[in-house]
Amino acid sequence: MSIRSLPKAELHLHLEGAAPPAFIAGLAREKNIDIGGIFDAQGRYAYRNFVDFLRVYEAACTTLTSPRDFYRLTRAVLEESAAHGVIYSECFLSPDFCGGGDLAAWREYLAAIREAAEEARANDGIVLRGVVTCIRHFGPEQSRRIAHCAAETAGDWLTGFGMGGDEGQYSASDFTWAFDAAREAGLRLTSHAGEWGGPESVRETLDHLRVERVGHGVRAHEDPDLLHRIADEGVMLEVCPGSNVALGLYPDLAHHPIDRLREAGVAVSVSTDDPPFFHTDMTAEYEGLCRHRGWSEDDIAATTRAALDAAFCPDDIRQSLI
Ligand code: HPA
Ligand code: ZN
Repeated sequence: MSIRSLPKAELHLHLEGAAPPAFIAGLAREKNIDIGGIFDAQGRYAYRNFVDFLRVYEAACTTLTSPRDFYRLTRAVLEESAAHGVIYSECFLSPDFCGGGDLAAWREYLAAIREAAEEARANDGIVLRGVVTCIRHFGPEQSRRIAHCAAETAGDWLTGFGMGGDEGQYSASDFTWAFDAAREAGLRLTSHAGEWGGPESVRETLDHLRVERVGHGVRAHEDPDLLHRIADEGVMLEVCPGSNVALGLYPDLAHHPIDRLREAGVAVSVSTDDPPFFHTDMTAEYEGLCRHRGWSEDDIAATTRAALDAAFCPDDIRQSLI
């Protein structure tokens, strides 16, 4: 069986970050929005480092101005994921880019995303769950507004709350209020940490935000005590190898710690993060792990099962997919 057609589950995908450059360029043209020089000569997203990546990402998002844009985006993203064998996708959805944190606007964007998700399920069989996401460098005040949006719309297919953005800004404890509010609303929790911050950032995230999964988390491998804790507590790391290499965290897959994490008994899943930014997709992620790390079809199947086990969805959905 080809790697492309093997069933896959993806837990770490930013919806806007999955927008193809041509999609964003088309919207910019249609709406006459100046997004600056965010593409290279081949029309691909161009950035110099992680902070510059965030700038380009946010510039691209200025073209996404209506629920209709998000309907079209969701259809395109899920169709592409399904073409790579993805049967279950958890997408980070950012109220910051869907109405700026205004609850009434957020509801309209959500309705559009949901409509697209239902069509994708009927056409391609792919299941979407949403993880409402605040953006760390937008600050703790704004995270409260985002948590409020999340709490008011929690349930059904919106099952998680998370945080992305610049890990170098603020400390995890500044976001305790937002994560507590989301937890009280019944949402399950994840946060980016241990990507640009070291083990201490992961530890603070576990202590203060009490998440059950960590986005990336790969730098936990630098601290054996922390690795033990993560394995003992059953915290899953949403590992995105292609993203880590494209952003220069590791020079190549040969230097990536994913297998050291697995050997330490840590549950890991494999995701693309922001596929067109990192020139990747779920097939390429697993092909890379097979070619450069000796992974087999069994490793892929085990990773898919582990991802479904840690998915923010009820058991009946999980059972229907396994
Ligand atoms: N890290 C932090 N924030 C992000 C990322 C990431 O990899 N992708 C989109 N927002
Ligand atoms: Zn991410």
